[in-house]
Amino acid sequence: MKETNLKHIAIIMDGNGRWAQSRSHERIWGHIRGSKIVSNIVEEADDLGAKALTLYAFSTENWSRPVGEVKVLFKLLKKFLLKERNRILKNNIQFKVMGDITKLPEKTQSLIAELENDSKDNKGLKLTFAFGYGGRDEIVQAANKFIKENPGKELTEELLQSYLLMPHLGDVDLLIRTGGDQRISNFLLWQSAYAELYFTQTKWPDFTRKEFKEIFEFVSKRERRFGNVCSSDLQTSKMMAVENKELITNL
Ligand code: IPE
Ligand code: IPE
Ligand code: MG
Repeated sequence: MKETNLKHIAIIMDGNGRWAQSRSHERIWGHIRGSKIVSNIVEEADDLGAKALTLYAFSTENWSRPVGEVKVLFKLLKKFLLKERNRILKNNIQFKVMGDITKLPEKTQSLIAELENDSKDNKGLKLTFAFGYGGRDEIVQAANKFIKENPGKELTEELLQSYLLMPHLGDVDLLIRTGGDQRISNFLLWQSAYAELYFTQTKWPDFTRKEFKEIFEFVSKRERRFGNVCSSDLQTSKMMAVENKELITNL
């Protein structure tokens, strides 16, 4: 297994509707085609050595879409669960859905619960579908839960983090958005505070393992400073400490 500094990858799978429309088809055609490539990307994430892959499949804002489109998205999730179940278990993947799924058909909810339960002890890639998910909603829920359980206690960053939906996934290292738009659209707001962002013009149904790998390798080379200076500057500044002292005194 490869070692990588990009352990948690999150993807905003966008551009399905435009993909279909540019081919004079209904938007839902794009969702159908888009759902077919998900397993390729999951496999590639695993091959690249990522520990977690979080996919944005349906946002809290997507509830405002036409009912017919929403129903297709529900159906595609169900189809994915039925079709990919064996492969997920065979590949040692731990599957979870995060978000409010209470409006999904009962059968789909039970398929989710079953797969979550059957894969919970798997030690491989942590695959999470964000469905009925919104970053702001997650933070508000976490804060409310904390207040309820700890009346009068002060909230800290660590405590809030521990009350999020999937605290064990930790921060996002790489956030990719397909479809050409450069925004976060309420995805993993807290967890992406220091994520490396990558926006590709490619619409989700055309996204390939190859492009995913290229993005991953490209971003792996970026220096992540987390507010610090880069390591070579750190070295130089140690060497210059004496001269700096004089400079600072004379400020
Ligand atoms: C992303 O594709 C899928 C969902 C949001 C469910 P879109 O349906 O947003 O496609 P575009 O962005 O309109 O092309
Ligand atoms: C973000 O895409 C949500 C998902 C991919 C599930 P949207 O298409 O809903 O985002 P906006 O409306 O362009 O911001
Ligand atoms: Mg979109």
